[in-house]
Amino acid sequence: MISKETIEKVFDQARVEEVIGDFVQLKRSGSNMKGLSPFVNEKSPSFMVSPVKQIWKDFSSGKGGNSVTFLMEHEHFTYPEAIKYLANKYGIEVEETIVTNEDLEQANEKESMYLVSEFARDYFHKTMLNTDEGQAIGLSYFKERGFTKDTIEKFQLGYSPDSWDAFTKEALGKAYKLEYLKKTGLTIVKQEDGKTFDRFKGRVMFPIQSMSGRVLGFGGRILTNDKKAAKYLNSPESEIYHKSKVLYGIFQAKQSIAKHDNCYLVEGYTDVIQFNQSGIENVVASSGTALTPDQIRLVHRLTNNITVLFDGDAAGLRASIRGIDLILEAGMNVKVCSFPDGEDPDSFAKNNSYEVLKQYLDENSKDFIQFKADLLVKEANNDPIKKAELIRDMVNSISKISDFIKREIYIKECSRIMDITEEVIRSTLAQIEKKDVSDANKKFTEEKKAFEVHKNNENLQPAKIDILYELEQKIIEILLVNGSETEDFTETFLAEDETGNLVDVKETNAYKVYEKIYLALQEDEIELSNPIFKTIYTDIINYYNQNLEFEIDKYISQTSPEIANKITSILMLEERDILHKWENRKIVVEKKNINLAQSVTETILSYRWYLLNKVIEENKNNITADVTVDNTEILTTIKDYLSLTTVIAKNLGRVMVRF
Ligand code: CTP
Ligand code: MN
Repeated sequence: MISKETIEKVFDQARVEEVIGDFVQLKRSGSNMKGLSPFVNEKSPSFMVSPVKQIWKDFSSGKGGNSVTFLMEHEHFTYPEAIKYLANKYGIEVEETIVTNEDLEQANEKESMYLVSEFARDYFHKTMLNTDEGQAIGLSYFKERGFTKDTIEKFQLGYSPDSWDAFTKEALGKAYKLEYLKKTGLTIVKQEDGKTFDRFKGRVMFPIQSMSGRVLGFGGRILTNDKKAAKYLNSPESEIYHKSKVLYGIFQAKQSIAKHDNCYLVEGYTDVIQFNQSGIENVVASSGTALTPDQIRLVHRLTNNITVLFDGDAAGLRASIRGIDLILEAGMNVKVCSFPDGEDPDSFAKNNSYEVLKQYLDENSKDFIQFKADLLVKEANNDPIKKAELIRDMVNSISKISDFIKREIYIKECSRIMDITEEVIRSTLAQIEKKDVSDANKKFTEEKKAFEVHKNNENLQPAKIDILYELEQKIIEILLVNGSETEDFTETFLAEDETGNLVDVKETNAYKVYEKIYLALQEDEIELSNPIFKTIYTDIINYYNQNLEFEIDKYISQTSPEIANKITSILMLEERDILHKWENRKIVVEKKNINLAQSVTETILSYRWYLLNKVIEENKNNITADVTVDNTEILTTIKDYLSLTTVIAKNLGRVMVRF
């Protein structure tokens, strides 16, 4: 358990924009910050962070909350994990953090897998540094590769002893369960006899970390020259390790990527490590496979620019280049840099100083389109068929670029490099796009059909807005945002004048907004019908009635996730309009310029009006056609209520339509 004081300190110091900024590239947008949703694939930002309100909202997935809920959603942390992460980030000492056997028992499955992986990382690391075998075999191997002590620390490199089950035994002895050792693939359990083996026996270990530094899996490199055994052995796919979704080095690189607004992409573990040691930290590895959309998304959150680095040998270059169209499609700028013959990023970084490496990268990074054109021109030589193919290939890449200006530049560049007229390129582009459009159309028609079938089943009722819900939500919104403000409210009373006639008397009084709402609802004995709204309402009113200051962020941090989510949604309603406006300039959101008191009054009156009408409807249903039953009482009630609604309508200053 983490102490309450620690949790409070964390909430006091954590800034939501800083916490999220480690994972998502955020740009200022008025008083908010916006970025690409880290939960769905998207090209235009629908992810909003409010530094003022200390909350975030993702309009694509509907998720929202505070710093802690972000970490829970994004990193799949448990609550205590998120608190610990923040404490660490802000240098806050955590009270009571020891992982006890009981804690292990309670942690859920994924968490258990993380814990066992983190234990394994520490075990491999310590074994390498502190045992004779580790030093003689593992450490000396890394030293030979030129890795310094700092580098070994930074990447938490390790060594798994050359024995059948040294690691497994150690882990079991420390109360880690075999189930999780098996699920993470660290231990192999033989089916026939249940015997256990260490998967990474005798290998040097590279822990693979998530963006936030959790250990997801491992790569283990063999040290012998056994041609039959794979050079690298990786953790199997598991609940916590998805090869296609991780990038090696992203944890160490994220800040540098955002800072330099560029990410170098290499193939292997050692390329990443050697670059880091040379002083270039904005580098990640796809671990030998083509880049996937998920991996691109990971980088895209931090920067819009990627530089793909290739080994000197041209083998496989063409194949890797195909995958790059995917990066263009994501709307990113791609540069490409290849190394001299026989060199890879690892060897080049090892054999040259930082200055030479930096200069090499700067001078040899070429725009992808240009690089591709150069390469293809060399390949095609004077073969006209190949050349036609090549033009199509190039234009295909260009068609992925949505930025018009960039496109124009590329068309001109291609025309120059490949020595063909711009017209040819444009007409090929038009052909490809026509096909794309017709494909998209076809898909749209198919989807529409499917949708229509679906709709027919749904009885074709026009979507009904739940007015009661909207009104109650509005009340909560006002309480959250303006509850403590004081406003002048003009009220109408019925009073007797000197001659004894009843007249309307107008009186203006200052009220706190929450008071006004509270008194109005109490007077009519109204309770909010939605249980979540009701809870929030009661909590807020209680705070104020005890003369306490109601702090939204504190409240969110203490309440249930369901309520926290509802509140952030309400608080971000306004932001969504702004976002919408930003995205689609044609729509202008009108700023509501009615004042606060007016807004409060209207909301309360509308709410009353709605409830009255509901009562009237209910009463009407009670009227029977049976002549023996006296309906007078009901009819009188209805009449009274109707006259009340007329008063409300008059106060609202407009003719009310029936809901
Ligand atoms: N890889 C793998 N399995 C293999 C070979 C390679 O997963 N059997 C992945 C590893 O992530 C490796 C990357 O592909 O880092 C690149 O492979 P390679 O260039 O062969 O490895 P290097 O990183 O250069 O390794 P080393 O320099 O140690 O030989
Ligand atoms: Mn290598």
